[in-house]
Amino acid sequence: MHQNHLIDLSDWPRQNWERIIDLALEIERDPSAFYGRMEGKILATLFYEPSTRTQNSFKSAMMRLGGQCLGFSNPQNSSVSKGETLADTIRIMNGYADIIAIRHPKEGAAKAAASYSRCPVINAGDGGHLHPTQTLTDLVTLTRETGRLDNLKVGICGDLKYGRTVHSLIKALTQFPNNEFILISTKELVIPAYIKVILNAAGCKYREVASLTEVIGELDVLYMTRIQQERFASEQEYLEQKHVYILDTEKMSLARPTMKVLHPLPRVDEITPEVDADPRAVYFKQAQYGVYTRMALILNLLEDDSFGASLFHGTPHSGEPCSNPNCITNVEPYLKKSYTETGDMLMCEYCEHKKLI
Ligand code: NCD
Repeated sequence: MHQNHLIDLSDWPRQNWERIIDLALEIERDPSAFYGRMEGKILATLFYEPSTRTQNSFKSAMMRLGGQCLGFSNPQNSSVSKGETLADTIRIMNGYADIIAIRHPKEGAAKAAASYSRCPVINAGDGGHLHPTQTLTDLVTLTRETGRLDNLKVGICGDLKYGRTVHSLIKALTQFPNNEFILISTKELVIPAYIKVILNAAGCKYREVASLTEVIGELDVLYMTRIQQERFASEQEYLEQKHVYILDTEKMSLARPTMKVLHPLPRVDEITPEVDADPRAVYFKQAQYGVYTRMALILNLLEDDSFGASLFHGTPHSGEPCSNPNCITNVEPYLKKSYTETGDMLMCEYCEHKKLI
């Protein structure tokens, strides 16, 4: 099986991230210098969940590099609707494409796909778990717009529970010195425990607060997020959470002149349209950097074998189900379960949920 995948940025040494960030910035300076580099190559985008930016920025990236694209954006139009397994879809796509970008509602799905793939697989979002290519885009944006990835006081606001972009971004920024986090959410949407374990292990300062107004003046970066309606158990729970955080010009007047506002987009109502004209609002530029970032990622994964990382490190536990109902192993039961052991806990290597042994 192929090893050059991007499932979780933490699988890679930091020098790999830096190579992608540097190349993305080089591409931004002169994209035309890279046209044609992927001629004859095909990208498959397998999107089991809706997407505008991620899927189209992947396609745009591959097309700008001279390659071509195929795939689906609605699994109802593919054999998935006939009950085809993820493993079989990947085996088939291996004959049709040179690289695969997959988005799936189940956590750990990209890793499961990679374990059956002979070509590189990129995680374009797996449920509420991770979104590493958005994080690479965020790192490129921060480098370009603030000049650094360290010594940042980063406020992250909104849906910290289900927002996969948030989880990936925090995991990445803990790897750079002296970053501090202010986690702004309601008590219902606080950051998952496993992310706090990562923050503590990295020795990062962080605090959890409910008010955006009270902290906005301290921040170098404000990362706004959408409340993830599709991941709530009930409509009522979602209705109670929407409209809580709205960034408007009044709040922006309390922020530092150098603060940057990022958002992975799409936005619903959490940033008012008036804020768009503020030069500190960089979310539309961020979406543009996403194309250069994905061009850099495709080039590295297809041209350099050293991006490999092993997918599993723990011991296979035959039959032991993962306790997370949203884990891919609970809907694709043929998958080989795998857990790492820490103390009296087992951690699922697909979705990172922990359970007592
Ligand atoms: C994000 C996602 O899909 O997780 N969007 C994106 O990829 N740019 C954020 C979101 O949907 O809220």
